[in-house]
Amino acid sequence: MPVGTLLAGAADVVRLLDAPAGAYVHVPFCSSICPFCPYDKVRLGDVPAMPYLEALRREVDAVVDAHTARFGSFTSLYVGGGTPTLFPEVLADLVERVPTAGRRAVEVLPTHATPARLDALAAAGFDAVSIGAQSFHDPVLRRLGRPHDADASRRAVLAAVGRFAVVDVDLIVDVALPGSSPAAATAVRAFLDDVAWCFETGADQVSTYPLMRFGYTPFGVARHARRREHAVLSQVAELARRLGYERRSVWTFNRLGSPPYTSITRRRFLGMGAGASSVTGRDLLVNHFGLAAYEAAVAAGRVPVARRFHLGALGGAAYEAFWQAYAGAVDPATLTAAYGLVGAGPVRGLTAVGRAAGLVRSDDGLLRLTPRGYDVFHDLERAVTYGLIEPLWAQMLREHGDVAMQPTAGWARPARGRSGPVWWLARTLTERRVLDGARPAERS
Ligand SMILES: C[S@@+](CC[C@H](N)C(=O)[O-])C[C@H]1O[C@@H](n2cnc3c(N)ncnc32)[C@H](O)[C@@H]1O
Ligand code: SF4
Repeated sequence: MPVGTLLAGAADVVRLLDAPAGAYVHVPFCSSICPFCPYDKVRLGDVPAMPYLEALRREVDAVVDAHTARFGSFTSLYVGGGTPTLFPEVLADLVERVPTAGRRAVEVLPTHATPARLDALAAAGFDAVSIGAQSFHDPVLRRLGRPHDADASRRAVLAAVGRFAVVDVDLIVDVALPGSSPAAATAVRAFLDDVAWCFETGADQVSTYPLMRFGYTPFGVARHARRREHAVLSQVAELARRLGYERRSVWTFNRLGSPPYTSITRRRFLGMGAGASSVTGRDLLVNHFGLAAYEAAVAAGRVPVARRFHLGALGGAAYEAFWQAYAGAVDPATLTAAYGLVGAGPVRGLTAVGRAAGLVRSDDGLLRLTPRGYDVFHDLERAVTYGLIEPLWAQMLREHGDVAMQPTAGWARPARGRSGPVWWLARTLTERRVLDGARPAERS
């Protein structure tokens, strides 16, 4: 079979890329559902896994085939979820199928991070893991509805550190609790204690996510305590300095001298699996979220792309500058190289404003975020999450009608998702019909 024709549209997706991509693979099954989690997932057992995993293999083969023909290996592999470690044999198979020049990373649920299972992941070829510890305090884990206790979180981190080139630990802090309540003060103390414990273990990266309350999850909406969030993160930055870590992005702190790594930013990536998205430079593609819709598209011989947003040079440069800023430094030269003057012009304008407002400083051709810049960017990140990501995901989650709406599932009520003028404008300006061979975007 000629390259790129395993699924109609795979070569079209790869043709949109302006540079080699990282591969992202989504495994949307979890043994139990955490009430705060906004991602595309289903409870294992509510939906059969086999047909999904077969469709996934087919999509992966098609996309790998098309990417390899044009660019060779992927720049990295990241397997996320959901809980990918429910399927160790699928993980080993993915390493075989996806030729990768850089890091291979996988998200690991703490209860799955036993020395034997971690050794198996390393033997399969993974050299980076992200441990979803969230906290080392039982009351916090209970409030979050996590399927493990603090001991399991601690054991997982201790077992992982030193077994992989990069070990990331995910922590969540809920600062949206009423600011002056004893519960809020206790939560912040517990969080700072958790961060310090992680730094002392020698973990390579500690990700400190402020809890985002997606309206369609059972956690519902709540006002964020902006200043309190800034204060907590600057306390983390201070702790980091004292304990041999540095801030490498708005929400990540890395051990000095640890290899460059970030769990959530890749310049270009192709997403495979239900709920995965792809960023090609000038386009953003989103796969079907519903497993039935995803499997049906693949069974019909099409890439399972459900939505396409054409960003163009201006939007692509803004998107890339946004993620560069998330990672602490904007590089105008890479933006000019990728997008020409159209993309670089507005970035220069914003830079002048950012410099005047004390948000960035020039450093060897880069524009580095100042501590104040990190605070402002933190607020911007939250605005993007609620203004763009939540409305999109709420729409996409409707495809789960069969599962998510069942009273027993209760993990998504898409009708309660936020929406608003920013989303309306972004969508109106950028949404296009999906690629040839794929189903046209369903407008809702
Ligand atoms: C795909 S998720 C989970 C990976 C894995 N299934 C687990 O739970 O350990 C990746 C990370 O996103 C973070 N996360 C999930 N929901 C969040 C929310 N509502 N707000 C902030 N961070 C969140 C968590 O720290 C989580 O470890
Ligand atoms: S946080 Fe992790 S384990 Fe919990 S529902 Fe989300 S993906 Fe599944």
